[in-house]
Amino acid sequence: MNSLEKQKPETELSQEMITFTEGEKHVIPGMAELIRSSAAEGCVLLKNDDVLPLSNDLNVAVFGRCQKNTFFVGYGSGGDVHPPYRVTYADGLKECSEITLNEELFELYRSWCEKNPPVISTLWGQWPMCYQEMPLNDEIVERAAKQSDVAMVIIGRAAGEERENVLSQGSFYLTETEEQMLAMVTEAFKKTIVVMNCGNIIDMSWTKKYHVQAILYAWLGGMEAGNALADVLCGRVNPCGKLSDTIAATYEDYPSAVNFGGPEYNFYAEDIFVGYRYFETFAKDKVLFPFGFGLSYTSFQIKCEGFSVKQSMSAEYPEEAALEVSVTNIGACDGKETVQLYLAAPQGKLKKAAKSLVAFAKTKLLMPGETQKIHLSVPIEDMVSYDDTGKTGYQFAYVLEEGKYEFFLGNSVENAAKAAGFMQKTTAVVQQLEPVCSIQEEFERFTVSETGEVGCSIGRETVPVNSRSLRERILNRLPEEIKVTGNQGYLFSDVIDGKVSMDSFVAQLNDEELEALTRGEGGMNSSLGTEGNTGVFGGVIPSLREKGVPPMVTADGPAGLRVKRYTSLIPCGTTLSCTWNTELVEKLFEKMGEETKLHKIDVILSPGLNIHRNPLCGRNFEYYSEDPYLSGKTAAAAVRGIQSQGVSACPKHFAGNNQEDKRNQTDDRVSERALREIYLKGFEICVKEGKPQNLMTSYNKVNGVWSHYNYDLVTTVLRGEWGYEGNVMTDWWMRLSASPEFPLLKDNAYRVRAQVDVLMPGNIGHKEREYQSDGSLLATLSKEDGMTRGELQRTAKNVLRFVKWRFKD
Ligand code: BGC
Repeated sequence: MNSLEKQKPETELSQEMITFTEGEKHVIPGMAELIRSSAAEGCVLLKNDDVLPLSNDLNVAVFGRCQKNTFFVGYGSGGDVHPPYRVTYADGLKECSEITLNEELFELYRSWCEKNPPVISTLWGQWPMCYQEMPLNDEIVERAAKQSDVAMVIIGRAAGEERENVLSQGSFYLTETEEQMLAMVTEAFKKTIVVMNCGNIIDMSWTKKYHVQAILYAWLGGMEAGNALADVLCGRVNPCGKLSDTIAATYEDYPSAVNFGGPEYNFYAEDIFVGYRYFETFAKDKVLFPFGFGLSYTSFQIKCEGFSVKQSMSAEYPEEAALEVSVTNIGACDGKETVQLYLAAPQGKLKKAAKSLVAFAKTKLLMPGETQKIHLSVPIEDMVSYDDTGKTGYQFAYVLEEGKYEFFLGNSVENAAKAAGFMQKTTAVVQQLEPVCSIQEEFERFTVSETGEVGCSIGRETVPVNSRSLRERILNRLPEEIKVTGNQGYLFSDVIDGKVSMDSFVAQLNDEELEALTRGEGGMNSSLGTEGNTGVFGGVIPSLREKGVPPMVTADGPAGLRVKRYTSLIPCGTTLSCTWNTELVEKLFEKMGEETKLHKIDVILSPGLNIHRNPLCGRNFEYYSEDPYLSGKTAAAAVRGIQSQGVSACPKHFAGNNQEDKRNQTDDRVSERALREIYLKGFEICVKEGKPQNLMTSYNKVNGVWSHYNYDLVTTVLRGEWGYEGNVMTDWWMRLSASPEFPLLKDNAYRVRAQVDVLMPGNIGHKEREYQSDGSLLATLSKEDGMTRGELQRTAKNVLRFVKWRFKD
C-alpha cells in the first residue's frame, strides 16, 4: 500500500463546532467601540438617491427577517466565536433615536421570527446560507406603505469553511420570496433602501430590475453589527467604506468563472487579470460597481499637488515615486475619504493590467471646507512585473520595462484621473530570482492581444513549463548539523536571558525531542491550554517541558478567539478591508491581542488573507480582497496589532485556498507570474511589514504539490526571498504523501524537509487525540537521501525562535 492509499477519508480532516460552556461575559474596555466603528466604516454605500441619511421625522418600514436574525459572521473556524452579546439590526435600529420605525411591521417580523426560528445545523459544513423569508402579502405591504415614508429591505447570506456559495437561489442568487419582497415593496413605496447583510458578494443584477433608491453593503459586522448599521443609516457615521472587490454584472463575467470549483484542479487561466485588473483591462462594461467604490453623504475634491521620482543608486530605475495629494471636503457634512493611487505600467513585452493599486490612504474626519495633505509613496517593488517567460530578456526576474509609467489618482479604480508619470528609458532588472513552483502541464493563460481606443482584447499564450531540478536545489542547501552534545543542563530560560545560544540549547536535544518539536501534541482542545483551543505545540512532551520549553497554545481565528469562553466577535475580514483604514484595523487587532493574552492563548490563527479569486469561495468573508496590495496592507496591520501585545498572529492560508469545495484535494495550476504578483504578493507584504512569528500553510496543492510539502513556497520564497524567520505550521492535519524528489521521505519527513515545521494539531487524521509518533520523520534519519539531523535542528530553531520571542519580556 503506498502512502496515498493509506490516506484517511477526507471528511475526517474536518473539525467540529465548539459547544459552548458558561463563563464570564466580560468585554475588555475599548473593544466594543472599535468593533462598532470598524463595522460602520466597512459599510459600503453603493447608491443613494437622496434618501439617506435617515432623519427621525421619516417613518421607516423594515422588511426582511435578517433584521431579527442578523448574520454576524460566516461559518467555520473563522466564525465559531461565542460573543457575550450580539446587537441585531433590529436592536440597533430600535435603539437609535434618529430613526423612527414602523412599529407594527417591526412587531409582525418579531413575532413571525419567534414562531419560525431559523433552522441552524450545528453539524460542520451543514449551515444555512440564508433563512426562509417571511412571505408578504399585498395587505401587509400596502398598509406599511400608508404608515411609512421609506422602506428598508434586508437581504442576508452567509457561507463559510467547507460551505461554498453555490449558483443557486438562496446562495449567489435571490430566492423567489426575496424577489417578491423586492417587487412588492418597490412597487408600493416611493423610496426603498436595500441593506446587504452578506459575507460574500452575491448577484446584484436585480439592482437594474427594481427601482431602489439606496443600497448599502453592510457585510457581517460582528457583535456590534446593529449599532454600526444604525450609525451609518442615520448619519452619525458618514459612510466611508469602499469595495474591496469588483461587483460584476453577472457571475459569468468574472474571469475565473469557467475555472473554479474543480475537484482535482483549476487552471488559473485569467493569470494576473484577477478582479479589477481584468475588468479595467478588458471588460469595463461588465462592471456594476467598481473596485474601490463607495459613496459618502458629502463629497471630496482630490488633487495632486506634487510628484517626485527618486532614482536608485544605480540610476537604472527609480527607487520610489511619490505624490503629494490634497483632499478637501467640498460637501456639507463631516466625512472621511480614501485616496487611491493606481499605476498603469506600459504594455511592453510583458502585458500588464490597465491599472494596479499601488498606494492608498484614508483621511481623518474632515469638516466641510477642511483640507488634508497626504503623502503617497510607491516603492519600486510595487511597479515591477515578473517575467516567467524570458520575453524581456531577463527570465525569472522582476523587471521594470521601458516605457511610460502613469499614475491615476482618485476614489475608485474607475474614478481615477491621470495625475503624474515618468518615462523609463530601458528595461531594468530590479530583482533576479529563481524559478519556483513550476507547472507540470502546459495551459493557456490570458494576455493582452491588442490595445485600442476602447480598451484591450484578450489574447492567449502558453504558460511556460520549466525543468529546474528541485532535488538539486534542496541538496545544495541542506543545513549544517549542530554537533549533538547531549543534555548539558541548559534551560530554555538561559536562551531567553541570553546566557546560552540557541544552537547550544538545540545541540542538547535528542531525536525524540527534535521530533516532538515538529508536531503538535495530538488533537484539538489540548488539556495543556485554555478549553476550546485548537491544539498546542512546542513543549508537548515532558522532557521538553523539563528543559523549560512550554507548550504554545493556539486558537482560531480571524473574527475573534474561538475558545470555550465568551470572547469578542469582530467584523469579518471583508468588512475590515472595506474600511481601507489600516490604522483602525491595527487598533482593533491590538485589542484582539489583549484578549488573546487574557485567555492565555499564545498564537491566534489570524488573519486570513487569501485572494478573492471568485465570489463563490465560502471563506471570502474571512479574507480581504481581490487585490493583493489591499490584502497585504490590511493583514500587516492586523499582525502588528496582535503582536504588539506579545502574542503571535498566524497569517493563513499560504497559499491558494481559493475554494472550499475539495479544498484538500484540489490543485491550483497557476503561472509563476500570477503566483508571485497576485497570490503570494499579499503574504509578502504581510510578512515584510507585519513580521508575523507564525504562519499557516493551506490545504490545497500549488502546481501539483500540497502547500504543506511545498519546499519552494516555504523555503525558497517565504524564508529565502522574504527573510521570514518564524515558525510555519500546517493547516489542521495533512494529506499523506511521499516526496517525488526523495521517494524515501514520506509524510512528516517530506514536510520537514520543506521547512513546514509543525504538523497541527499533531496527529494526521482527525480521530487520534494523543501524541504518538507515526515514525515517518525519523525512519530515514541519516540514511542516504534521508532526513538529516541538521534539518530537524533547523526546524527546532524555527519553532524555538518564536517561543523565545513570546517570552522575551
Ligand atoms: C482551518 C484553519 C483553522 C484550523 C483550526 C482548519 O480547518 O482551515 O483556518 O485555523 O482549522 O481550527
